[in-house]
This record gives sequence, C-alpha cells and structure tokens, in this order.
Amino acid sequence: MGETIIRIEHLCKTFGTGDGKVEALQDIDLEIQKGEIFGIIGLSGAGKSTLVRCINLLERPTSGKVTVNGQELTALKEKDLRKARRGMSMIFQGFNLLMQRTALQNICFPLELNGLRGEKNWREKRAKELLEIVGLPDKADAYPVQLSGGQKQRVAIARALADDPKVLLCDEATSALDPTTTQSILALLKKINREMGVTVVVITHEMRVVEQICDRVAILDHGVIQEQGDVSEIFSNPKTEAGRRLVMPNGEKIHVLPANRLVRLAFNGTTSGEPIIATLAAQQGICLNIISADTRTIGDKSFGTMVLGLPEDETEAARALIYLREIPGVTAEEVTDLVQ
Ligand SMILES: Nc1ncnc2c1ncn2[C@@H]1O[C@H](COP(=O)(O)OP(=O)(O)OP(=O)(O)O)[C@@H](O)[C@H]1O
Ligand SMILES: [Mg+2]
Repeated sequence: MGETIIRIEHLCKTFGTGDGKVEALQDIDLEIQKGEIFGIIGLSGAGKSTLVRCINLLERPTSGKVTVNGQELTALKEKDLRKARRGMSMIFQGFNLLMQRTALQNICFPLELNGLRGEKNWREKRAKELLEIVGLPDKADAYPVQLSGGQKQRVAIARALADDPKVLLCDEATSALDPTTTQSILALLKKINREMGVTVVVITHEMRVVEQICDRVAILDHGVIQEQGDVSEIFSNPKTEAGRRLVMPNGEKIHVLPANRLVRLAFNGTTSGEPIIATLAAQQGICLNIISADTRTIGDKSFGTMVLGLPEDETEAARALIYLREIPGVTAEEVTDLVQ
C-alpha cells in the first residue's frame, strides 16, 4: 500500500430538511493513494458531484472527516481552507473557461488570483509550457469560441495544472466529448499522472473511462459506496447489484424463461482461451445456452463475463456447474437478478 493522500471517513451529506430532505451521501469511507488514478463511478444522481465537492470542501459535509495531504480540511477555518484547496484543482464536463480571455490568459488566471506567483512574464512563460504539455502550443491566442470541445478541455487541464496541484479532480471531464476525443483526453490525464505525479480522481458514469485509465474504483449508488477495489477485480467479478448494473449494463435487458437457471462466468484474465462451451458439449454432452457474453481488455489482461442458461435437467445442470467451477481462472455463480 502506498501513502494515502485523500482520506474520507464517515462522510454524510444531507440537503434540505423535512419532506424535501435528500441524503446525497451516506457514511462514505474512502482512501485514495498518492499517485494513483482513482475512479468514482455511478449513475446519474448517485452523489458523485456532491462527493467530489466534499473532497475540496466546496460543499461542507453534514458530518464526517476529509483529510487531504495530512491536513484535516473539515477542521480548517475558511482562510486556511483556501490555502489548502490550492493543492487541488478541478476540471468539469462544461470546461468552465472564461470566454473573454484567450487560452493563455485563461491558464494565467489562477496564478493571478493567488497573487503569489511572480511577474506577468513568468506567468506567461508557465502558461506556454503548459500549453506544450497539453498539446496546444499554437493556441495561446485563441479564444474559447475558436476551440473545439477537446481543445477547450486541454486548456482547462492546463489551467488546472498551473499552480502545481497535488490532486486533480475530474467531474465527468469527458462526458461532453466524442469517443475519439475522450480517448485522447484520457491519455493526456494518464500522462499527467505518470509524468507529473499528480493524483487523479475521475468521476464518471462511463465504464470505459474507468477501464481505460483508473487503477482503482469505487462504485457509488444512491449515496452509498457499494464496493471498491482494483479495477480488474471489480470489473471482472462485481459483487453487488449496483456493480453488476454498471459493469453489465445490458444484463437487465435479458429476457429468459423464469424456469431457466442462469450461471454467470467471470474470467479473471488467466484463462488459456479454452473453448469451454464446446468442450462441455463435446465431452459431456451437455449443451448450455449463451444468454450474453462480453469480454474486454484492461491493462494487458483480458477479462470477460458470460451468462449461460443451464439445462432444464437437474442432474445435467449440476454436472455443468461442477465442470464450470473447476475451470482455473473462472468464477462461476448462479444468478437470479438478471431475470426481469
Ligand atoms: N445543492 C443541492 N440541493 C439539494 N439537493 C442536491 C443539491 N446538490 C445535489 N443534490 C441532490 O443530491 C443527489 C446527488 O446529486 P449529484 O449531483 O451529486 O449526483 P451525480 O452523481 O453527480 O449525478 P450526475 O451524474 O447527473 O451529475 C441528487 O438527488 C441531487 O438532486
Ligand atoms: Mg454530477
């Protein structure tokens, strides 16, 4: 285990009172390690933005503790909090650039605001270096309206990095972008993480974002962290209903006869590529029905899940289960929650 940079303990956030009361976050415990890319994934309304705003205390938690870089933010006075917040910056879905300022001026803005970071020339030199890092060396004088969505997000990333943050919080930073642009922005975030050592927290509703860049992930559902761990573990074998809903979004749409018993196989990246279903049919004469199948590559390993319908015959179903459970690198469990 590395060094913890963000520690959240028993955090709760409630909006409103009485009938209008919303418990947006309930007893959240989370530890984010220095230097990692941590994903927080959940459906709309899960509480993701609230959580990220509680990390930098733009939103005051109703109860609980937030500690960043060894400093307990929830115990700080406003003035000290402002100072502590400088170690964290944020990017958003809507980029939030100042429209009347050029790319260069946008990047200089946080340095001007804190007033401590030298002369205009110094700031502009720094902004130009950052434009290089984000791949837009020729856009210094462009206004936001003259930039594409991807370019705007690059400028926003450069601005977020201007004051050397330790932590970059990204709230749905790629949700307004097409898939190709999303890929390139995620690659940039990864580069910044690896080369500059910035800890990145990625808030998203999209699995593929987490898959592409995150080391670990927490699944947030209705204000509660349902499970958390290494991306490969959580995605190859989600243990909770909320996890399965996100990882296998099509699972809910599967229609099968209620009489059919189902088994879910999760491949953990070590299987030899043996044709399991064909082998079972050829060697044991047992035919399984493929209900759904989905495989993906995370890092350099392949993972996948498959849902199979077991034969109606009880003995055959039992034999099939025994066979499936003995395959190395595969977890087989009966499921009931996919049936609508
Ligand atoms: N300022 C507020 N006042 C009252 N309720 C709020 C406020 N901010 C958020 N909420 C409620 O808290 C819950 C979580 O909202 P939040 O914006 O954190 O969700 P989210 O996961 O970021 O959703 P999305 O993916 O749509 O951005 C929602 O029920 C929302 O209506
Ligand atoms: Mg949100």
